[in-house]
Amino acid sequence: MRSGATMFERYGGFAKVSRIVSSFYDRVLDSERLSPYFANVDMRRQIDHQTKFFASVMGGPASYTSEHLARVHQKLAITDEAFDELALLVRETLEDFDFDESDIAAVYGEIVSYRSFIVTRPTAGVDSLEGV
Ligand code: HEM
Repeated sequence: MRSGATMFERYGGFAKVSRIVSSFYDRVLDSERLSPYFANVDMRRQIDHQTKFFASVMGGPASYTSEHLARVHQKLAITDEAFDELALLVRETLEDFDFDESDIAAVYGEIVSYRSFIVTRPTAGVDSLEGV
């Protein structure tokens, strides 16, 4: 294992990541809690989401500012439960692809660090978020 290489490079760059992404994507769409978030998003943007998401959390070329992530997700009413489930599906996917536990922990830690920019906090008087 080359020292200094990003995880993205060590696990095979875009070719491998795209296989990981489709596996993760199948899991997201199988989830009753997560699939509705992607129901009205076109396929190309969904794949774009998952690929950039992984490349980003694995230290690959695509990286986003917290402000951009907050802007993109704020209208989606993402709950803590949905966020947790997505993070768990990432963990399961990486386990299936035989990632080292330390790398899984690093990715998981990276994802969790974005929570406050992704989850929509219900504010007083807004009851439209109930049941999401
Ligand atoms: C750390 C966690 C996450 C990261 C880094 C992330 C990253 C991204 C990125 C890079 C995009 C594309 C932005 C663009 O179009 O410029 C995106 C869009 C999107 N994300 Fe996430 N995401 C995260 C969590 C979530 C969660 C938990 C959900 C749902 C439960 C979600 C649902 C979506 C959807 C539906 C879109 C598409 C929005 C649209 O096309 O209008 N994301 N995300």
